[in-house]
Amino acid sequence: MKPKLLVARPIFQSVIDDLSAFFDVTSNQPDTPWTPDSWQQAVAGHDAALTTGSDPINGNVLGTNPRLKIAANMAVGYNNFDVPAMTALGVTATNTPDVLTETTADFGFALLMATARRMTESEHYLRAGQWKQWRYDMFAGAEVHGSTLGILGMGRIGQAIARRGAHGFGMNVIYHNRSQLDAAIEIECKARFVDKETLLKTADHLVLVLPYSAQSHHAMGAAEIALMKPSATLINIARGGIVDDAALAVALKNKQIAAAGLDVFEGEPALNPALLTVPNVVLTPHIASSTVHTRMAMAKLAADNLVAYFKAGKALTPLNQLAPKQVDLSS
Ligand code: DGY
Repeated sequence: MKPKLLVARPIFQSVIDDLSAFFDVTSNQPDTPWTPDSWQQAVAGHDAALTTGSDPINGNVLGTNPRLKIAANMAVGYNNFDVPAMTALGVTATNTPDVLTETTADFGFALLMATARRMTESEHYLRAGQWKQWRYDMFAGAEVHGSTLGILGMGRIGQAIARRGAHGFGMNVIYHNRSQLDAAIEIECKARFVDKETLLKTADHLVLVLPYSAQSHHAMGAAEIALMKPSATLINIARGGIVDDAALAVALKNKQIAAAGLDVFEGEPALNPALLTVPNVVLTPHIASSTVHTRMAMAKLAADNLVAYFKAGKALTPLNQLAPKQVDLSS
């Protein structure tokens, strides 16, 4: 008998086909939305789950699904996992680090530029037939080259953004992180560690790349946004909930900061309706890692983690270190 695998959301058919050689696969290719109950019931009876960042593996799901041995997230972020609860119950958790770093950094930089140079705002103006003549101050935005790039959260993606800013655009790069990076990495990224307040007060463009947790919830609230320069932009490619979106909408409306670029939202796919009423924000639907090549690499790494766990007893990119659970394939 093959282990039973639930694939929570649509993925590349070729990856499902490859997984079918090792697993008895139940897939949700039609993308039927889950409710908390239907998700909990769907996981039941499976040895493994291939999840996305929208599919929770928490105490409720684990409590009613003792058969589950591994959940492989097709994402580098894993705030949908309760890793301590998974560890306590012997359930392996994996994510997809590295394969999306450069692509996500590309997007972060694209969003920064679109925001600073008012690209979507001006496109809407043009599409609406409002462009009648050239004007000296038409959609005058903020300079990118030579400006100060602030990065909050200096993991792999933050470092990749720093390199783009420093080496490609001659930006002065400052960052804040839980801990200061090794000097060699700072030199390579041409990045200088500062405290959070200095970061917020000094950055011309502030990019958020920190993981979401109870500690980082509303790390950018009204008080923090108030510290930023009125000419500054705020870019969130990390997770919804790190920014207080309601406070940000007020700040954008009042021109407390110049503009924002958001790829992630509190409670996504819903978003705070006030964000739709302000022109100085670029909005994208959580697509920072979305190139065909990278999404395939993410899907394959999630799949390889599952196969490695059942074939070799050890996942490739585990978030917790566990002896494999006894695999009972009799039912
Ligand atoms: C990630 O990998 O964490 C991206 O945000 C996709 O969910």
